[in-house]
This record gives sequence, C-alpha cells and structure tokens, in this order.
Amino acid sequence: MLRDCFNYHDFRKLAKGRLPGPIFNYIDGGADDEVTMRRNSEAFQSCDLIPQVLTGVKDVDLSVEVMGQKLDLPVYLSPTALQRLFHHRGERATAGAAQKFGTMFGVSSLGTVSMEEIARQYDTPQVYQFYFHKDRGLNNAMMQRAKESNVNVMMLTVDSITGGNRERDLRTGFSIPFKLNLQGLWQFATRPMWGINYLTHEKFSLPQLDAHIDMGNGASSIGDYFTNMLDPSMNWKDVEEMVKFWGGEFCLKGIMSADDAKRAVDIGCTGIVISNHGGRQLDGSRSSFDQLAEIVDAVGDKIDVIFDSGIQRGTHVLKALALGAKAVGLGRYYLFALAAAGQPGVERAMKLLVAEIERDMRLMGCSKISDLNRDHIRFR
Ligand SMILES: Cc1cc2nc3c(=O)[nH]c(=O)nc-3n(C[C@H](O)[C@H](O)[C@H](O)COP(=O)(O)O)c2cc1C
Repeated sequence: MLRDCFNYHDFRKLAKGRLPGPIFNYIDGGADDEVTMRRNSEAFQSCDLIPQVLTGVKDVDLSVEVMGQKLDLPVYLSPTALQRLFHHRGERATAGAAQKFGTMFGVSSLGTVSMEEIARQYDTPQVYQFYFHKDRGLNNAMMQRAKESNVNVMMLTVDSITGGNRERDLRTGFSIPFKLNLQGLWQFATRPMWGINYLTHEKFSLPQLDAHIDMGNGASSIGDYFTNMLDPSMNWKDVEEMVKFWGGEFCLKGIMSADDAKRAVDIGCTGIVISNHGGRQLDGSRSSFDQLAEIVDAVGDKIDVIFDSGIQRGTHVLKALALGAKAVGLGRYYLFALAAAGQPGVERAMKLLVAEIERDMRLMGCSKISDLNRDHIRFR
C-alpha cells in the first residue's frame, strides 16, 4: 500500500509487485554487472555530514536558481523514457507532481507524452532531453519544435551514443515494440491489472519521434533508432553549433570528467549534469558522486553543475549540494513511485524527500541551501 511507503526501498517493492517483470527490470537494472549502478548509491557512504549546532535555524528555505530557473527545491525530475509503460498516466503524473512541488521536469526524447502537451498543461519549468541525430536537419527541426513549445532548458545527453549492455532486458526480451520471450510473456500474464490499464488507455506512442520513426507496425524499434538514426560520431564542434542554434539555456547530461566540463564551458553551455545515466551505460565507470568535487573545483564558478545518479535519500541530496552541486536530478526514486501509484505515488515520494531534506537541513544547522558547504563534509 502507498501509505506504507516511507523510502526508496518501499516504493521499489510496491512497484515490483505492480509491474510485469520485464518492465520492472528495465527500470531497476543497469549495464553489465551493475557495479557502477550499485556504487552510485554506496559512494554517498564514503563521506559523513558534520552538523553545526546553535545556528539559530528558524525557517528552512530550499529554493535554488539553476539554469535560469527558480525552483522551490534543489531537486528535479530527470528525463526518463517510456513513462506510460510504468503507469498509464506516465509523464502527466510526473509533470503534475513536479508542478505541485514547484520544480523542474524533464521530457525525454523517448517520452510517451508530447512536450507540447506538457508545456500547455503544466506550469513548471520544462527540460527537453535531446539525442543527437545523423540528420542535422532533423536536429534543427526538433530544436525548433522545442523552442515553439517554450521549453526552458535544452539538455543534450552525451553518454548514450550507443545503448548500454542491459542483460536483464536481454533475458526478458524487453524492447519496444515488445518482443518478449516465453518467460517475459508469463511475467506479463501475472500482472493482469497492468495489462488492463495498458490496453484500456491511449495507445502507446513516442510523440517526440512519431514523425520520424514508426514503432506501430514492428518495422522499427528503439534499438534501430539508436543504431540507425543517432550519430555516434557527434563531437564538440557539432554541439557548439547546436548551442548557438538553441540560443538559450543549454546543458550536457552525462559529463564525468573535469576536462570535458571545461570544454562544455568553452563551447558556451550554461550547465552540465554529472551523471553516468544511473549506471545504465558504461559499467565500471566511476560513480557520479566520486567525480563531483573535482568537477566543481574545475568549473563550478563558470557553469551550473548539476548532479544525478544514485540519489535515494535526503542526506544524499545534502552531500551533493555541500560538495557544490547546484541541484540534483532524481531517476529511479520517482519512477518506482510512479509505477507504484501514479501521481499520488510521485507526490508522496516527493513529500517524503522534501521532509527529509528539510529535517536534515535543520539538524545540520542550515537555513538555506547556500549555507551548505565543504565544511559540512568529511571523507572517511
Ligand atoms: C528507466 C529509465 C529510463 C531513462 N531514460 C532516459 C532517457 O530517455 N534519457 C536520458 O537522458 N536519461 C534517461 N535515464 C537516466 C536518468 O535521466 C538519470 O540520469 C538516472 O536515472 C539517474 O540515476 P538514478 O536512477 O540512480 O537516480 C533513464 C533512467 C531510467 C532508470
């Protein structure tokens, strides 16, 4: 039951009970041996918080300004694919929750509700997550579309020029369109409520891409999209042109080194997201948290440094902010809540996280986010 959910693990468990196995494992899994995925959350244990007492905290202000957007929270909902598979309201539920909590919401290129609808229906800053296509005309047309729907921030994902090796999906046969093996089919059969919801609501589609790929008749798949349409040879020059074309807030998602962060500054980006895609791409890569301090030291005064991968707790958020991140993105934390209970699920997850952050801020002796700094952290 939703009311029995108090943390990440509770939402994950409820989601597991509601979703067909192949879909649960698509969210839950990572690449190869999932070492990076596990390390992402474990890395927060490599340092401890040092509270300051008697600082006279009366009220706690969690607001931040990041990439030109004023947010009520230092936490936003990172763009993720295929949300209507997780709950029939998909992005509508997540955007609704983001609006309620006054924070930013990311629409994925592989989103299942159109960026135009989200912009029309929800009054909350919108990020559009972009993949770079071989067809430069298509890139410009899609950016133009995002401009016309008043997207606030363009976020180019740079860690996915090829898909990660997600062996859980290989075992279940998870792909879009579904090509399930017998075991995968059986797992769908054991979750009939999911099937009823899926079949009785709007047909599955990818409205950001519908005009360019056809998922309906099985002629094309997301795998084909990555292989045939995306440009693995994209380089800094290409992205510099995109940044100019966009002419507004532009960030690169998936930066993991200080050198790349400096190059992002050089080509005119206004933000970077330190991220390893939740451990879903290059297994064996360093955790985002382990890279945060050195990247902040290199570029923190020139560009907004945002952080994601591994966040499950309010104290994780505090540690990332204390090291210098301007805001942090959530992935699985809100996706499991979405799968567990739709918008009320995401709202409960956000409410719990905000309460944790607020309580932890008080216990740390901080009344605003900018009070957090490296004096509050000690590595073991
Ligand atoms: C199911 C799922 C789908 C995702 N889809 C996308 C996507 O379409 N584009 C993207 O840039 N990142 C995508 N991500 C990555 C998230 O935006 C984010 O970087 C990551 O989930 C953060 O790690 P966490 O889940 O440990 O919080 C996805 C992540 C998950 C779990």
